[in-house]
Amino acid sequence: MGTAPGILALAGSTRTDSFNKRLVKIAAAGARAAGAEVTLIDLRDYPLPVYDGDLETKEGLPGNARKLKDLFLANQGLLISAPEYNSSITAVLKNTIDWVSRPVPGEAPLNCFDGKVAALMSASPGALGGLRGLVHVRAILQNIRVLTIPEQVAVSNAGEAFAPDGSLKDAKQRAAVEALGAKVAQVLSRLRG
Ligand SMILES: Cc1cc2nc3c(=O)[nH]c(=O)nc-3n(C[C@H](O)[C@H](O)[C@H](O)COP(=O)(O)O)c2cc1C
Repeated sequence: MGTAPGILALAGSTRTDSFNKRLVKIAAAGARAAGAEVTLIDLRDYPLPVYDGDLETKEGLPGNARKLKDLFLANQGLLISAPEYNSSITAVLKNTIDWVSRPVPGEAPLNCFDGKVAALMSASPGALGGLRGLVHVRAILQNIRVLTIPEQVAVSNAGEAFAPDGSLKDAKQRAAVEALGAKVAQVLSRLRG
């Protein structure tokens, strides 16, 4: 991986035309421009059963949970665009976090999250842009030992906010989202000394 900080970028949506997938891509570009090595994934490519303790006891971690764990372990930073469902985190994002948090034999608790640096963002067709959901995502990440930077962006009226090429129409908003990615890259570089 060289000396560039590694950042994993993902949206809490599997929807093909997801606004949050578009948004996290912009933050990822900001992180790359700041010198990070970004791995952008689509949770659609890592389908998982709903977490079930009996299933885990019987079969261990599903293959996709292991793949995701490896991605979390390989990266020090996280960029998460989290849609808001009923004022909170989406099931697919929470289920991903739950599976990834399960230790494999010999692994320290929360090894995949402990000490990571994250930035959060959201996009919604609604007027609040998913802001209420971010409160919950932030609380979850804090409790699993992720350092989440204070800056965040919630894009409201998402149906009108994006240009056909996936970019944000508003230059100030685009810069704010790119800055989230850049900030995570900078914090990671500083932490390394
Ligand atoms: C079950 C469900 C609940 C939703 N609840 C909210 C909500 O509380 N607040 C909000 O702003 N949008 C809500 N929405 C609308 C989502 O913001 C919208 O579907 C958005 O496009 C999802 O993000 P995505 O485009 O990245 O998939 C909800 C959508 C669904 C399917």
